[in-house]
Amino acid sequence: KLQSRVDGIINELTVSQEILNKGVDFFIKSAEKGLDNKDNDPYGLPMIPTYVTSIPTGKERGVLLAADLGGTNFRVCSVSLNGDHTFIIKQEKNPIPVDLMSANSADELFEYLAKKIGQFVNTHHGDQASESKSDDNKLKLGFTFSFPVDQTSLDSGTLIRWTKGFNIEDCVGKDIVQLLQSHLDLLKIPVSVAALANDTVGTLLSRAYSAGAVAGDKQGDTLVGAIFGTGTNGAYPELIDNIKKLPKNYVDELKSKGKTHMVINTEWGSFDNHLEVLPTTKYDVEIDKISANPGYHMFEKRVSGMFLGEILRHILVDLYREGLILQQYRSYENLPHRLRTPWELSSEILSYIEIDDSTALKASELALLNALRLPTTHEERIIIQQLTIAIAKRAAYLGAIPFAGLLLKTKALEGHNKEVDIGVDGSLVEFYPGFRAMLRDALSMTKVGNQGERRVHINIAKDGSGVGAALCTLSD
Ligand code: BG6
Ligand code: GLC
Repeated sequence: KLQSRVDGIINELTVSQEILNKGVDFFIKSAEKGLDNKDNDPYGLPMIPTYVTSIPTGKERGVLLAADLGGTNFRVCSVSLNGDHTFIIKQEKNPIPVDLMSANSADELFEYLAKKIGQFVNTHHGDQASESKSDDNKLKLGFTFSFPVDQTSLDSGTLIRWTKGFNIEDCVGKDIVQLLQSHLDLLKIPVSVAALANDTVGTLLSRAYSAGAVAGDKQGDTLVGAIFGTGTNGAYPELIDNIKKLPKNYVDELKSKGKTHMVINTEWGSFDNHLEVLPTTKYDVEIDKISANPGYHMFEKRVSGMFLGEILRHILVDLYREGLILQQYRSYENLPHRLRTPWELSSEILSYIEIDDSTALKASELALLNALRLPTTHEERIIIQQLTIAIAKRAAYLGAIPFAGLLLKTKALEGHNKEVDIGVDGSLVEFYPGFRAMLRDALSMTKVGNQGERRVHINIAKDGSGVGAALCTLSD
């Protein structure tokens, strides 16, 4: 009985070729609508213009600061671009205190960020910090802020909404650069925020800069920067003529300067918020309800690291309620507290279970005991592993949809033996076993398979956002 119930759930989690193909067609339409979007068509992707109009060549030089908020850690770095595709990075990472993610006011969060930047500057740039007093002499900082921001220029933009569990109401609608700058100024930290970038834009720029550092490492131009971490998203350069939502006089001005493309932050986490094509189980519905942004980022809630453990947790509780597992606990209230606590099961634990080949899945037993204080039988662990594999496979397969969508939309593979480079970053794609391989499997099942999926090169853009934000400050 247990196995047949689990088989049913796995079946619901399976992404068929038909779903992939429908998904890709729908992605292209949603992207086009988003570029056109004058009246905020709810079926359009956000497709946010970033004001980045040039892609690095690898020859850029300079020493710049970068700060990065939006993944697991808040990072402050200083980046020396050597002008030969290589860079030296010094960085300090701090996990974001959970209470700051839902602080009472934006000021609490931004004061913390400014202090961390101040500490970094004192430690690593003490001399410059004491000398540089005038505005012109301040250290320049690129700020990676990995949330949907309505960008109005390279160094200004207002927060549209929070994602990934952040929830500080009075921040929404405010200018993120001004918030950070005002707190830096209050603390007399001699830093000027010169660019605001999404992490995907940072990843795109840093991969474009680094590609070619090692002979043979650059195969084709970098088309997409993507994140598969706590959240998921991608950015790519789009022809300015196709970005219909940009004002005409601005487009003319860009063209007169010889610009042809602008990087678009797709915010593909919000792909198919109306659930026209995405597979949906009752667990997805439950998780959306308890999330900080119900109704939004529905794609992200099936694909990114923040949600995979939560999906498994919901399934386990459901199987318990159906009387199929963990029946030694007499009532729901008796279940281990952590199993009843939302967001307690991280995708890191799933990554151990995914590849566990120990006798009687003993490694998983330990991982579940550590993470949830949950004792399990061998039979229970077998189904937990099956479910884990299905949840991660659905995530990676769906993750191929935006790649295929952008490759087809931009016709990047059309042309004799054309090759395309994609930069990726984030804990899932970097550490989850087999994630990239599954993504590729699914990519080859889409129309990109017919064009030559092997001509697509997916590379990790290590330290992407820091380097990318620094590169952004150089963008004209
Ligand atoms: C990091 C980038 O490497 O990856 C961040 O610096 C990005 O900008 C992050 O948000 C995503 O990964 P995760 O797993 O930390 O969300
Ligand atoms: C979420 C954010 C997006 C970010 C992504 C990856 O989807 O909305 O801006 O790029 O997470 O961190």
